[in-house]
Amino acid sequence: MMQSAKGDAPVVAVPLEVPEEKAEVTAEVLAEGKNLYGTNCAKCHKLYDAKSFTAEEWTPIVMRMQKKARISDEQREKIYAYLTTTQM
Ligand code: HEC
Repeated sequence: MMQSAKGDAPVVAVPLEVPEEKAEVTAEVLAEGKNLYGTNCAKCHKLYDAKSFTAEEWTPIVMRMQKKARISDEQREKIYAYLTTTQM
């Protein structure tokens, strides 16, 4: 006969660490980001120094400039990774 689990609190595995959802920022991603930044973001204006803006400031800027530069989400993320990681 099967034992009933009725009444038992459901066992929920609580991860101690929240898994990082963003793709890992590797040296390769940063190099690509730098490259993409240089080729896509200097068409209309000079390249802004990555340190000119904080990561929070870069977020809306990169979203806006993605439309202007007509780059993919993936390319935008690499550029963002480059711009914000070099600040550290
Ligand atoms: C089609 C032309 C064009 C391209 C391509 C372009 N930009 Fe811009 N960018 C502009 C214009 C115009 C402004 C100023 C007016 C505005 O903010 O919309 C600007 C302003 C900026 C600023 C100044 C901050 C601010 O809030 O205005 C930053 C930083 C910037 N761009 C980053 C980028 C990055 C990163 C890329 C590549 C993903 C990029 N731009 C590609 C036209 C462009």
